[in-house]
Amino acid sequence: MTNSGLQTTTIPLYLPDPHATLPQYADDEPAHDSFGRRINYLRISLTDRCNFRCVYCMPAVGTQFLPRPELLTTDELLLVVRAAAAAGFQKIRLTGGEPTLRPDLVEIVTAIKATPGITHVAMTTNALRLAKLAQPLKEAGLDRVNISIDTLDPAKFRQVTRGGKLDMVWEGIQAADQVGLHPIKLNAVVVRGLNDEEVPQLAALTLRYPWEMRFIEVMPLTGVADVAEDGVVKSEELIAQLEQIHGPLEDLGLAPTDSARRYRIPGAKGKLGFISAVSDPFCATCNRMRLTADGRLHLCLLRDNELDLRAAIRGGASQAQIEQLVRHAVAMKPWGHGLPEHVLPTLRGMSQLGG
Ligand code: 5AD
Ligand code: SF4
Repeated sequence: MTNSGLQTTTIPLYLPDPHATLPQYADDEPAHDSFGRRINYLRISLTDRCNFRCVYCMPAVGTQFLPRPELLTTDELLLVVRAAAAAGFQKIRLTGGEPTLRPDLVEIVTAIKATPGITHVAMTTNALRLAKLAQPLKEAGLDRVNISIDTLDPAKFRQVTRGGKLDMVWEGIQAADQVGLHPIKLNAVVVRGLNDEEVPQLAALTLRYPWEMRFIEVMPLTGVADVAEDGVVKSEELIAQLEQIHGPLEDLGLAPTDSARRYRIPGAKGKLGFISAVSDPFCATCNRMRLTADGRLHLCLLRDNELDLRAAIRGGASQAQIEQLVRHAVAMKPWGHGLPEHVLPTLRGMSQLGG
């Protein structure tokens, strides 16, 4: 296998022609990128639509959603999953927008879970529809959920999500817990002046519940740069704040290829996680790629590089050809993001990339 002549770029990489001259990648070993990282985790955005409008994710108005024919069909999506599994991908996470807005979500989970090579299927959701869906999703084989919840105050929740109802989300979290979508992880994006004062209350959930409460530094993606610009609260600041209340936190370390550094409040049932993508990037252990709802492999969350699988599929590419394109995308994966140099992605917002 050789990568000579290929360079990662900061411009989109579209390869609509499945017969374009690509290097031939060995198909008998898991895909590694050009930095030796094993890439085995695919985050699939099922739709760019959402029933919330979180201020750090979407602008208030003006977001254009993809017309339905632009979305990968379920058959196309499953073809990509099989090709990715053949290239060594093992873990799938369903994201959005809001993945529960996809009408055939339960069928998609069933089929992904039945794909040889795929060992884990998880989902990131706002939980608004989870009270009804938790049980069928568990039966379909969903392993775990991550749920966004940025505050425990109903009025503030309406403000952050631009209209969301906290009690419905809370019911969704309880339903996920009851049906055993464990371990439950909750995500709060912390924005200074918006919800940073809610952090102690959210962290205190772990005293009562065996959940992992994760605090995420806000990232300046398209459409929300104004919110994110001065809004980043570094994880170390939050840890110091929590230690003033609870005394020293127990450091549980950083699991390999996980993005969160974990701690525990002494005696708590659950854990705390801190995702410091801005202040302390974890690119060195990155094992992930993303598939957008319109069928592009997005090589790094915070870069614009993409490879168009949908064009290849609609041009008649076989599963083996799609696998080669997946392997090519892995080989082209950039080292990491350029936030410290103020290189920002411009093509897509977070609601199209699913976090
Ligand atoms: N910065 C960091 N995380 C974000 N998310 C959405 N927007 C941002 C942002 N600007 C995360 C939320 C949600 C997931 C889908 O993406 O935590 O749980
Ligand atoms: Fe929807 Fe999640 Fe974005 Fe909020 S953060 S608008 S729930 S996709």
